[in-house]
Amino acid sequence: MTTPQRTPTPQEQARLDNIKKAWQERRSIKQNLSKVKHKIAVYSGKGGVGKTTVAVNLATYLASRGDKVGLFDTDIDCPNVTKVLGLSEPPAHNNGKLTPSERFGVKCISMGFFQKSEEEAIIWRGPMIHNAINQFLQMTDWGDLTHLIVDLPPGTSDAPLTVMQTLPLDGFVMVTTPQILANIDAKRSINMVRKLNIKILGIVENYVGDIFGEGAGKSLAEELDVPFLGSFELRSDYRKSVNKPTVLTSATVRNEYEKLAQNLDNSLQQL
Ligand SMILES: Nc1ncnc2c1ncn2[C@@H]1O[C@H](COP(=O)(O)OP(=O)(O)OP(=O)(O)O)[C@@H](O)[C@H]1O
Ligand SMILES: [Mg+2]
Repeated sequence: MTTPQRTPTPQEQARLDNIKKAWQERRSIKQNLSKVKHKIAVYSGKGGVGKTTVAVNLATYLASRGDKVGLFDTDIDCPNVTKVLGLSEPPAHNNGKLTPSERFGVKCISMGFFQKSEEEAIIWRGPMIHNAINQFLQMTDWGDLTHLIVDLPPGTSDAPLTVMQTLPLDGFVMVTTPQILANIDAKRSINMVRKLNIKILGIVENYVGDIFGEGAGKSLAEELDVPFLGSFELRSDYRKSVNKPTVLTSATVRNEYEKLAQNLDNSLQQL
């Protein structure tokens, strides 16, 4: 004998609708990114450690060696990627699809395109940030890509959490610095990422040199048993980093990114 099905209460129905919507969104994002081989996010718990610098230079280096690269700037409050790439032309919009803008062989989508002026602060609440990232992931026609690099804002705010929950990532590149505090934050974020069952592809250490020291990133990698992908010295070369990524203007920085790219290739192969 079958029990008659009871009609869900309005609250239950609303919850079911939300679950269905989230599932449909995830499926549509997965489909939309089906021609993207590797999806990699650059992340740190602490602000200002060099995530955007690493994301833009890594993307530009990979494109310059012949890979097909996309860069998705999810920093809705402070989108800087367009400035570093020197991009002002917004993505083309056709039949509900966005075609990313392109410079130095890197296809780019960023909230920076949708700000009216550079100084305009985008103060969005959590659900709007979640919706904006979801919309971009569903609407953007990236085409065939070998790598989609995702630049994240710091901390555990809505943007990183949305990306972790909706984007089928290969894993994270974590950025840290030689300072103790940055490493405590890095450890915390790595543990959070691991709780969500997302892989850590490796750690990079930025701002290495006489001023801040060296080695904290490598020892953190050993302690947490993740690959160490490379170190980047604190250099004046980055002063010219507006409109052109430093890997295209400095041979020494380019060498550092060549090593990062090789180590990342190894990390991706081992997945
Ligand atoms: N190795 C380096 N040597 C010198 N300057 C650097 C280096 N790495 C980054 N910078 C500079 O430090 C500043 C902050 O870097 P960046 O914007 O990449 O940090 P971020 O982690 O993305 O910050 P946020 O948390 O705000 O997103 C930038 O002006 C950048 O050019
Ligand atoms: Mg940044």
